[in-house]
Amino acid sequence: MSFDKGLFTNKTILVAGAGKGIGLACAVMAAKYGANVIAVARTQADLDKLISLYPENINGWAMDVSSETFFQRVKDLPILHGLVNNAGINRVGPMQGQSSENIDAVIDLNIRTLYKISQAAITPMLNADGAAIVNMSSQMGFVGSPNRTLYCMSKHAVEGVTKAMAVELAEHNIRVNTVAPTFVLTPMTAPMFEDEDFKKFVFDMIPLGRLGKVEDIANSCTFLLSDLASMITGTSIKVDGGWTAR
Ligand SMILES: NC(=O)c1ccc[n+]([C@@H]2O[C@H](COP(=O)([O-])OP(=O)(O)OC[C@H]3O[C@@H](n4cnc5c(N)ncnc54)[C@H](OP(=O)(O)O)[C@@H]3O)[C@@H](O)[C@H]2O)c1
Repeated sequence: MSFDKGLFTNKTILVAGAGKGIGLACAVMAAKYGANVIAVARTQADLDKLISLYPENINGWAMDVSSETFFQRVKDLPILHGLVNNAGINRVGPMQGQSSENIDAVIDLNIRTLYKISQAAITPMLNADGAAIVNMSSQMGFVGSPNRTLYCMSKHAVEGVTKAMAVELAEHNIRVNTVAPTFVLTPMTAPMFEDEDFKKFVFDMIPLGRLGKVEDIANSCTFLLSDLASMITGTSIKVDGGWTAR
């Protein structure tokens, strides 16, 4: 099963947070289907590995996606057809113990940075004949979960701002949607699954009985970025194995 090979021919797609995990899979898939991919992460070695897979159509930017330099570089792009706002962090812990530093870090990357990147992307997207933004949300953008109120707050904000952006940017034919994954084994979540009780909790919560794979998430991201989704904006694809359906 696959999309058409030329799905993204002549399209430029930027993936913010593309060195590992879900963002890496989204970047690889966009390149596989012919996009000129701009992959952004801070770790050059990760970008080098990614570029080696599709050297002709992946360009790596080793930089912090929450920096003003990055926002300006996005704004200065000549054209942009797709943006994946994937960079995000979690600071797991009970509400009573959350430090101001944790609260600020999560809000800064998961909400403020997503807004600032999207804001910068509008200028080059106006030069495309239609464009799409995919915000990486989470099932935690729809429900609450123990020790995750801070993260849930940020992902509920991602769901909200996605709808607002979709309404505001529709006049420019810029579509805005989210992909909302359940737990996926990535460098972010690997330490969580060392706790057997937590692992059992997660598997018990997912009716389909397995974790998400990075490719499951990248498939939905690819669909939403593509013209196959040309009438879809302001909504979310929950790739959660049924977690939020309970
Ligand atoms: N994994 C899950 O179970 C899961 C579930 C639901 C939602 N999500 C969401 O999916 C997204 C990706 O999660 P993941 O698990 O794949 O994360 P990950 O394994 O931590 O990978 C994140 C990627 O983003 C890059 N990144 C992070 N901060 C950055 C910054 N300030 N500037 C540039 N690059 C940055 C990291 O590279 P550098 O550190 O080298 O910069 C890395 O390549 C997040 O938004 C997360 O909230 C994940």
